[in-house]
Amino acid sequence: MDVVRKTFDVWAQNGRAELMEKEHGGNVSKFLNSISFDEPFTFLDVGCGNGWVVRKIANEDNCKKSIGIDKSKKMIIQSEKKKINNKERFFHTDIESWKYTGKFDFIFSMESLYYADSIESALVKIYKLLKPGGQFFCGTDFYSDNKATVKWAKIMKIQMHLHSKKEWKELFQNAGFKVKTKHIKDLKNTKKWKREWGTLFLTGIKPEK
Ligand SMILES: C[S@@+](CC[C@H](N)C(=O)[O-])C[C@H]1O[C@@H](n2cnc3c(N)ncnc32)[C@H](O)[C@@H]1O
Repeated sequence: MDVVRKTFDVWAQNGRAELMEKEHGGNVSKFLNSISFDEPFTFLDVGCGNGWVVRKIANEDNCKKSIGIDKSKKMIIQSEKKKINNKERFFHTDIESWKYTGKFDFIFSMESLYYADSIESALVKIYKLLKPGGQFFCGTDFYSDNKATVKWAKIMKIQMHLHSKKEWKELFQNAGFKVKTKHIKDLKNTKKWKREWGTLFLTGIKPEK
């Protein structure tokens, strides 16, 4: 069995999914609050965990549909249980092999993409799933400039692709995106890396053509 899937099946049931919601929640909210959702839109969360971002976005008045996918079946079961709005939809699939014919205005992913077998293939798929002019928001705490997080791969004992900020930008550009970056820091956090480096958010913009 796929070890990434197996690991997150365990996390879905031992409280770690809710811990991630708490740990990532502050910086993700700060980032998402800077996005204007002032026109009707569709939203996808890749590696949605227990679905907390899907629920948050479904609350936006202009949200028409908020979808979460995750390769952990147990995460999807948790997401389904926590559903509060009929704009929410969840699918058990990895991004690479998802058969979906629709296109999204916004795609989001927090701390998930670097677990993909190939970040390159995942980005190509995400690009295809966006409408022209659509945007992909990707948050990562695990990047080589943020030295304190580099040891996570050894602790987790599963595949985690480590890249620098510069390499992340190149991965996005190679997939066809125009790219912007932003660090969201938590200046009062007890962890030094959260104060000094914080979460790296990359925004990939699919050109209008
Ligand atoms: C560290 S958790 C983050 C969950 C959630 N985004 C959050 O911030 O709470 C990573 C999640 O990504 C999922 N995942 C990893 N690789 C994936 C892939 N290729 N396609 C879809 N989901 C994936 C895992 O199963 C796991 O639930």
